[in-house]
Amino acid sequence: MNINWSALGFHYTEPDYIVRAACHDGVWEQPYATKDKYLHLHVSATCIQYGQEAFEGLKAFRGVDGKIRIFRWQENAKRLQRSAKALYMTPPPMDLFGDAIRLALLKNLRFVPPYETGATLYFRPLLIGTTPRLGVGPGRDFELIIIPSPIGPYYPGKFHCTSFIVNRHVDRAAPLGTGQFKVGGNYAASFRGTEAAHAQGYDCLFTDAKTHKYIDECSAANFIGIRESGQSPKVESQKVPTGTPINVESRIEYLTPRSSAILPSITNDSLMKLARKMGMKVIRRHIPVEELATFSEAAACGTACVLSPIDKVIDPDKGVTYHICDEPGPIVSRLYKALQDIQYGRVRDTHHWCEVI
Ligand code: PLP
Ligand code: COI
Repeated sequence: MNINWSALGFHYTEPDYIVRAACHDGVWEQPYATKDKYLHLHVSATCIQYGQEAFEGLKAFRGVDGKIRIFRWQENAKRLQRSAKALYMTPPPMDLFGDAIRLALLKNLRFVPPYETGATLYFRPLLIGTTPRLGVGPGRDFELIIIPSPIGPYYPGKFHCTSFIVNRHVDRAAPLGTGQFKVGGNYAASFRGTEAAHAQGYDCLFTDAKTHKYIDECSAANFIGIRESGQSPKVESQKVPTGTPINVESRIEYLTPRSSAILPSITNDSLMKLARKMGMKVIRRHIPVEELATFSEAAACGTACVLSPIDKVIDPDKGVTYHICDEPGPIVSRLYKALQDIQYGRVRDTHHWCEVI
């Protein structure tokens, strides 16, 4: 095997093993590793017929010290449990999830990319309903499958800006629907928006389905906006050297949407904690699209895209383009570095976010 790690994109590379565990009538069996990447699945399985499926995404990093760190897998386990309950599936126990991830890692060690290649080992845990059923309703049999794959950056190129286009004509998820859960149906529902945006050279910024006034999510990532406290004008682009005192950001606001239809991002949660530690004011509330004019920096955040700066947002319905910045700004850059320093073991993991293997 000869993988050009630095050239990897966010694409599937076949691992040696996947890990599987079955559940029947509420009882989970032990996970096992297998080379077989195909499922023998009944054509009427509830995952196929009615979309009884949830998934997750998490990463293992090869650190500066050569050790491998799995980032906050317990949070992914909890979120999968929430998604499972929402779709009437038996939630995989936390220990079983952790064992399955560790087994998937240990069986595919040669796929953990070296440090400083920009690539990581991504795990896609998948939970599917396998009971054959024609009547509409949940089944009683499930399977947890962990699919590992080395991946490169979600947005190709190192740390650079991406542009978004507002879409008020496609809803990703309803306010009381499944948007807050990581279920496959949300993604199929978003294709109309994301593919239309891609066709125009942008990524899709979804608005809330009820009023279409507020920012919901960036394609498959949360949105964050950065600005100077309590006011609208843009902050002059300023360089904040890495070593500057922590309270330098005390006048900076970190805004992120509060919405019942967005996925509670583990990356966003981590960044909010880091931002607070740097002295920023973290605000979660409805963010009207027009407020984009007040941000000096903005970014999409998620496991796949980490923290991807946004340079501009087009709002075709209003005929407005929000120019946010020309290049990654100082605060987003600093947050990005703080997060990656922990993930790559360059600083002490005071939050205990990484399991070192
Ligand atoms: N929002 C959506 C719709 C996502 O698919 C993801 C990716 O998992 C995120 C946000 C970011 O969540 P996380 O940081 O937990 O990966
Ligand atoms: C992730 O960030 O891990 C995701 O799952 C987003 C997307 C690639 C589905």
